[in-house]
Amino acid sequence: MPARFIDTHAHLGDDAFANDADAVIAKALEAGVEKIIHPDVDSTERDAGLALCKKYPGIMYHMIGLYPGSVTKDWKKEMELAEAAIGPDTVALGEIGLDYHWSTEFAAEQKEAFKYQLALAARLDLPVNIHLRDATDDFFAILEECRHLPLRGNVHAFSGSYETFARLQKYGPWKVGIGGVVTYKNAKVASAVKDIPLESIVLETDSPYLPPVPHRGQRNDPTMIPIVAAKIAEIKGIDIEEVAQTTTAAAKELFTRL
Ligand code: NI
Repeated sequence: MPARFIDTHAHLGDDAFANDADAVIAKALEAGVEKIIHPDVDSTERDAGLALCKKYPGIMYHMIGLYPGSVTKDWKKEMELAEAAIGPDTVALGEIGLDYHWSTEFAAEQKEAFKYQLALAARLDLPVNIHLRDATDDFFAILEECRHLPLRGNVHAFSGSYETFARLQKYGPWKVGIGGVVTYKNAKVASAVKDIPLESIVLETDSPYLPPVPHRGQRNDPTMIPIVAAKIAEIKGIDIEEVAQTTTAAAKELFTRL
């Protein structure tokens, strides 16, 4: 049996795939990627992603959410549009979270929007797909504040240390999304992956961003998932088949609607 993978985070509705999304999905299936989850950003990219999910049932799945980088003063209007798009086939709320990398102008609004979406996820019994950049302390403060909510989810494009992973486990069996960054020279996350249990890892590409070595500078796509899996297998000293089976089971455990 060939290895079967799930790409838990690929922006195939992005303009980067406007001309060849069908071909990319066909090649991903050939590469053993059986399911792909489309993360939502805001209303500007939503329709393209949802159209692909509708076209490929059983292969493409969608999340809905308001991305922290898209949060402004008027975030509630965007949030209304996002909520209207949630349906029985929505597999998660995402990507949601905090991003202070480019600007902290709307940090207060980002925190409000994030807390609002965590409460919504709890109410809908959906997992959350977290985008976190340069805001670790505020993220954990919000998790602490939301301790009473039945939350489950994963931190996508996890680039933290084992200590950050361990801190996350205080709030339940949170998982981490591991992608191309694990192949980068001197990546901190490579040493964390050695110690993070395989059951807590889901695979992702974050296509079209963050391609693995030796494809840096190129467009990333879900066919590169086996490169990430091979790197995790190498770091842990196990077979790639075990990485495929365990991470696919972990993705299905978290995203129960897959
Ligand atoms: Ni993303």
